[in-house]
Amino acid sequence: MKALIKPPKRGLRTAIEAAQASKPKRTKAPPATPAPIPPDVIDQVIERRRGRPGELLGILEDLQNLHPHKFLPVSTLEYVAESLGVPVSQVFSVATFYAFFNLLPQGEHTLVVCRGTACHTRGSKARLETLKRLLNLKEEEGAEKIFLTTADKQFTIKTVACFGQCALAPVVEVDGKMQSHVTEVCLKEWVNRLARGGKRK
Ligand code: FES
Repeated sequence: MKALIKPPKRGLRTAIEAAQASKPKRTKAPPATPAPIPPDVIDQVIERRRGRPGELLGILEDLQNLHPHKFLPVSTLEYVAESLGVPVSQVFSVATFYAFFNLLPQGEHTLVVCRGTACHTRGSKARLETLKRLLNLKEEEGAEKIFLTTADKQFTIKTVACFGQCALAPVVEVDGKMQSHVTEVCLKEWVNRLARGGKRK
């Protein structure tokens, strides 16, 4: 899904990063749980979006983009519901309906593999297996959707039902950029480059 709005302002993001930094650090795994979004930051986002078309969607997208781990903590959804005076279930149903929203923290880099029919027939399952092997990730048996993050929080891999770009199958989204006709070789190169701290291209 394409971004619906512009990324939030830097000042708000800094407030969340400051909250994250103030958390006590562990020296060993597991990594610390990501900090929630501070209420004053949520308030600012809500005020900016209040009364505008797609108010709730815009608020949730802003808040997710603001979080360093690109997700919506449960406490944030509850706070938004209370502030807008709508049932928590309504906010949750929006956050769970759109594949764009994440209720779990994401790694620094996210790769989304399309598992729709066109991509499947052109090898998306094999691409997914390659990614899992490269990143040493295993899915739970019987899991409907895949959302796996490496222990060092560097990579997340997810699946999506269809990107709507079936003619370009197999399609993989890498850090928000759609990649078409993806081969095993491409995947290996991207993972290696991103793991070394580089960009996809
Ligand atoms: S099936 Fe993959 S983009 Fe449609």
